[in-house]
Amino acid sequence: KTRVTLRTLDRMKKEGTKIAMVTAYDYPSAKLADAGGADLLLVGDSLGMVVLGYESTVPVTLSDMLHHTQAVVRGADRPLVVTDLPFLTAHLSRDEVLKAAGRIIQEGGAGAIKVEGCEEVLAGIRACVGAGIPVMGHIGLTPQAVHQLGYRVQGKDLASAQKLVEEAERLTDAGVFALVLECVPEEVAAQIQQRLPIPVIGIGAGRHCDGQVLVYHDLLQYASEIRPSFVKTYAKIGDEVEQGIRQYVQEVRQGTFPGTDHIYSLPSAVKERLFS
Ligand code: KIV
Ligand code: NA
Repeated sequence: KTRVTLRTLDRMKKEGTKIAMVTAYDYPSAKLADAGGADLLLVGDSLGMVVLGYESTVPVTLSDMLHHTQAVVRGADRPLVVTDLPFLTAHLSRDEVLKAAGRIIQEGGAGAIKVEGCEEVLAGIRACVGAGIPVMGHIGLTPQAVHQLGYRVQGKDLASAQKLVEEAERLTDAGVFALVLECVPEEVAAQIQQRLPIPVIGIGAGRHCDGQVLVYHDLLQYASEIRPSFVKTYAKIGDEVEQGIRQYVQEVRQGTFPGTDHIYSLPSAVKERLFS
């Protein structure tokens, strides 16, 4: 299996081969997503919500991202691993942004970072790209701005749709290798997909993107409570997990687990002498 690189993604965009991205947060999710053929693994700061139980992505720290990135990298052979810069990281000074992004690449082992926003983070993005750190952009609904935006579709009126197109172009000029569009009307995403030379990865952004991304726990229904309409359910592993645990608990209570298949026994010669 040869690892997915920026050149692979470039080729896929040119060929019209759709790119499949999914989030992963630990060793088993990375291993399974790799085995399932995902091209890109996103260590999303959504981990704050689906793995750590926070109400938003805002509390997630750089050390959380590093810890989870390291586990994902150990489980991923073929996919390119992309890690989110957490809340308020890309807005800091050039040196601070480089330091954080550098740690994600060097200590975390990710192949790229992802940054939410445009205007306020352009300088930081340019600094990273200039330092050889691949950056993925992310505009539209940017969950780190939940306290301003809420969770709703972006770019529905003329001015905000035009603003999204402009932002997409500015980010491309700043050197991002791909762009996530979250919760935008399909027509706006299609327009951006046509204009940009780089892959556009959609989540709630319709059918015309170069690729799609979904949150692992959402598409597999793994104890994820929110289910936005853009999510399709491909499995219900949460139900399976709960059912498995329920049966285990019941068998422990009843004393039917462990059974004779699950125990270690003494050799009979030892047993005879031990208890004689
Ligand atoms: O954190 C995340 O999972 C994301 C995707 C939803 C794009 O940023
Ligand atoms: Na994110």
